[in-house]
Amino acid sequence: MNDLTPTREERIANLKGMGTSRKRVEDVRFTQGKGNYVDDIKLQGMLFGDFVRSPYAHARVKSINADAARALPGVVAVLTAADLAPLNLHWMPTLAGDKQMVLADGKVLFQGQEVAFVVATDRYIAADAIELVEVDYEELPVVVDPFAAMEPDAPVLREDLNGIMSGAHGPRRHHNHIFLWETGDKAATEEALGAAEVVAEEMVYYHRTHPCPLETCGCVASMDKVNGKLTVWGTFQAPHVVRTVASLLSGIEEHNIRVVSPDIGGGFGNKVGVYPGYVCSIVASIVTGKPVKWVEDRMDNLMATAFARDYWMKGRISATKEGKITALRCHVTADHGAFDACADPTKFPAGFFHICTGSYDIPVAYVGVDGVYTNKAPGGVAYRCSFRVTEAAYFIERMIEVLAIELGMDAAELRRINFIRKEQFPYQSALGWEYDSGDYHTAWDKALAAVDYKGLREEQAQRIADFKAGRTRKLLGIGLTHFTEIVGAGPVKNCDILGMGMFDSCEIRIHPTGSAIARLGTISQGQGHATTFAQIIASEIGLSADSITVEEGDTDTAPYGLGTYGSRSTPVAGAATALCGRKIRAKAQMIAAWLLEVHEGDLEWDVDRFQVKGAPERFKTMKEIAYAAYNQAIPGIEPGLEAVSYYDPPNMTYPFGAYIAVMEIDVDTGEHEVRQFYALDDCGTRINPMVIEGQVHGGATEGYAIAMGQEIAYDEIGNVKTGTLMDFFLPTAWETPHYTTDHTETPSPHHPIGAKGVGESPNVGSVPAFSNAVHDAFRAFGLRQSHMPHDHWRIWKIARDLGLHG
Ligand code: CDP
Repeated sequence: MNDLTPTREERIANLKGMGTSRKRVEDVRFTQGKGNYVDDIKLQGMLFGDFVRSPYAHARVKSINADAARALPGVVAVLTAADLAPLNLHWMPTLAGDKQMVLADGKVLFQGQEVAFVVATDRYIAADAIELVEVDYEELPVVVDPFAAMEPDAPVLREDLNGIMSGAHGPRRHHNHIFLWETGDKAATEEALGAAEVVAEEMVYYHRTHPCPLETCGCVASMDKVNGKLTVWGTFQAPHVVRTVASLLSGIEEHNIRVVSPDIGGGFGNKVGVYPGYVCSIVASIVTGKPVKWVEDRMDNLMATAFARDYWMKGRISATKEGKITALRCHVTADHGAFDACADPTKFPAGFFHICTGSYDIPVAYVGVDGVYTNKAPGGVAYRCSFRVTEAAYFIERMIEVLAIELGMDAAELRRINFIRKEQFPYQSALGWEYDSGDYHTAWDKALAAVDYKGLREEQAQRIADFKAGRTRKLLGIGLTHFTEIVGAGPVKNCDILGMGMFDSCEIRIHPTGSAIARLGTISQGQGHATTFAQIIASEIGLSADSITVEEGDTDTAPYGLGTYGSRSTPVAGAATALCGRKIRAKAQMIAAWLLEVHEGDLEWDVDRFQVKGAPERFKTMKEIAYAAYNQAIPGIEPGLEAVSYYDPPNMTYPFGAYIAVMEIDVDTGEHEVRQFYALDDCGTRINPMVIEGQVHGGATEGYAIAMGQEIAYDEIGNVKTGTLMDFFLPTAWETPHYTTDHTETPSPHHPIGAKGVGESPNVGSVPAFSNAVHDAFRAFGLRQSHMPHDHWRIWKIARDLGLHG
């Protein structure tokens, strides 16, 4: 006789819970063109907005004549700063405590700055109309170099701040200075550096780049004047924050504002900030009484919305002759562009840059960061990164390589000598962080063995000999990186944005038939939350992930949360989800006890059911319990089965990884070929290994682009030289390297399911791996430091400068 009762293993498999490579449920609609992005939203009578943008990087706006534009049939309105001023909306606060012009108020400060907003019945009419707006500019001297900006006689950029020598982050010591932020023990660091046996110093530049999501930024604002309700659909990585800010700015009560993030085509930090386009669309909708759509084009996006990085990092590192690091100092000159619009927690104007001691046990350290204004677009967002972690990881991984050169040591061995040891966790870093868990030596050994590091070094030595003997023109570079991140902002006591504490949330409702809906304060932009958060719930409450809908991004329905960026979703909302599931389970246990006529304490949880201890044949499945929760009168227990959890993490999580890039470099053409890329990630408990692998592929491809060609470059008068995808390198399948992924699993001790974030790790770890490979190829010929991006031209120049062209 066949027994159809599922085995325990079958019940576990049925859940598709944590640890399962469950296929992404989102992909059904994405691969069939059924996504619903902002530009898919079409409302009755909808108008279209477009910006007149400044061709100059620094100029006085003497006059704006919009008569011809207004006269064009189909144009409904043209807004300028003068129109917004009576509403006090011509300037807006930035996330970093500065303020930013919504529309040019007397002058422009970067190329592409928003000068006027044209609203028309058709997108093409709006585009034609902006050509008809006549703006009389008087050019002013341009400053694109942050060091030149700090010269005593540098032009004053922010005239609105004239005479105000204190900003959101303390004193300003120059008219183009924003803040000096310091941390660590300066005196002890100087003393250790002074007494050191070996010291290495280098300027490490992480160039200006851009998140460049496939979908640009945009919104549709619709003011319903009858009901007094404003609805804004937009590319928002933090919809609740947008709602609160919109309420504070407009005076519309928060319950009358609904912010919806529909499907988002990649964010990477670009969609965290509040942009003039959002403000102008809302104002235009209020003024016209019609819905107004604004969607950037690619050039708008690259030129004007949030850039990333642009950190000049001057480092000094010291060690004993044997290679034990004794101190680290770093001074950063941070180019913030025209307005300080960085998206960092309030207390950390340089984000989490002070994770720059990396994976190493460094006894003393000091960091100072000077924020500086220049005539460039504002931003400073965390491009797939937890608030400047990427800059920090690049800095320390370059400094380690430079120190290895100084010591004449193998860089893999230097890392091994200095890793924080497993038994030192929780580890207190010299710059104030408490690393939760890690096992760096195991990961490192696994990585080196996987690529046959010893064999690679032997091959490299042979290659150098062959090159010197004229038998080859190709060099071999081995790029090593061991990175440690800090993700999951953040405890509320440390981390807020504009005063809003960085917790997150989840609400779960079980339906009577044993399926469920979960809503979170986060919002996926391609990370697969609908797939993976359902897996957490499945494991916690014993219903199949396939019967759980995950919904995010609608402020009318989702619990309040701070959104998705900096790999915070899993560490914060993922924790809220697990705890919310546990609340459901606790109530389910009471119901099961009543149904089974036993004491609650006599029950134990097993996969998808509560069973009587010692009598597992007596059980109630979660499905049965859900039905009873709604349909049976249970004494002392209110009907229904739902819960909500808000989670304020006690600490951040510290994922880490060991990445190795092996690169062939043609000395005569500067061309490179990534022969091998090995990525070992440790993100604690793994929810969905396939999704993690996808995250690693995507992030490493972005890292490849950044390291090897992608940049936002300016000429000396502030023209953006890389404002289109002809010039801004976005790798296609053709250029994208092949990746080998691997993992170790060191759970976070304070996270309910032990998970750490992973989304940004590959961007953080791959950039130094690629860059170190380029440097390593030329190490034997005397290269110490060369700035990214390592495009063919720059690599060719390295070879030329080292005299390798003969
Ligand atoms: O905040 P964001 O979603 O960008 O980053 P994340 O929290 O690192 O998550 C990225 C994706 O990887 C999500 O679908 C996570 O659920 C998944 N993930 C996972 O499967 N296991 C982990 N330990 C961490 C993330």
